[in-house]
Amino acid sequence: MTTPVDLGRPLVRLEEVDSTNRVAAELAAQGAPEGTTVVAEAQTGGLGRLGRAWSSPRGGLWLTTLLRPPAAVAESVATLALVGGVAVAETARRLIAGPGPTPEVRVKWPNDVHLNGRKVAGVLGQVHPPGVVLLGVGLNLNVFPDDLPAEVRPLATSLAQEAGRSFDPEGALGTLLDELSAWYGRWLAEGFAPVRRRCLELTATVGRTVWVSGPGLDFTGEALDIMDDGALLVRSGGRDVVIRAGDVSVRAR
Ligand code: BTN
Repeated sequence: MTTPVDLGRPLVRLEEVDSTNRVAAELAAQGAPEGTTVVAEAQTGGLGRLGRAWSSPRGGLWLTTLLRPPAAVAESVATLALVGGVAVAETARRLIAGPGPTPEVRVKWPNDVHLNGRKVAGVLGQVHPPGVVLLGVGLNLNVFPDDLPAEVRPLATSLAQEAGRSFDPEGALGTLLDELSAWYGRWLAEGFAPVRRRCLELTATVGRTVWVSGPGLDFTGEALDIMDDGALLVRSGGRDVVIRAGDVSVRAR
């Protein structure tokens, strides 16, 4: 039987902060329990993957949840970040469901969520020794293009922009915490397999031609699979390459 997990207890609500991941790291160091979640209305120094900044104006859902997984954290962080990606994708699907054309929600490896082909959310998994993984989620809820820096506008979207209506932030927070709890609970009980399966059903990456970039990486290939440890398997020039870090852009069909 799956042990129920209740992420979001305790819930620390902040109006404005530099980064919810930074606050959650401080709470972790003070011994905060698993499930402690920090949510802010706006961030002034939001952190993205690969040391990038994450624009976090009011209207978005910016939170970090603190996990104390039983397995070695350094080995778990990639699969836990995909737990976050799947949970956010399911949240977006639930929130935007309704009459009209079905919006396309996809998980782009490693942990972006795309809505109708543009990025609507990102997940940042950080290891915080000893034994803590901080899962930061940024979801563009009621955010509009003018709220975002010019360089990200063409690539980003929000739930409100795609749905043509705004969303209740409290309802969205509840849905996100439900989905994070459910998928983390599954990961604890059954391992990465069910998360990987759902990731592959929702993938924007596997089966596509991708461009891989990052430190020491710059090539094009075919994304073949997500591996048991959350890495991406890419075939390039007849060789299979395992990608654990870096950026993957999906080439237009
Ligand atoms: C990415 O680069 O796609 C990951 C973005 C993660 C942003 C979220 S917003 C809440 C949490 N606090 C942060 O400073 N970053 C994460």
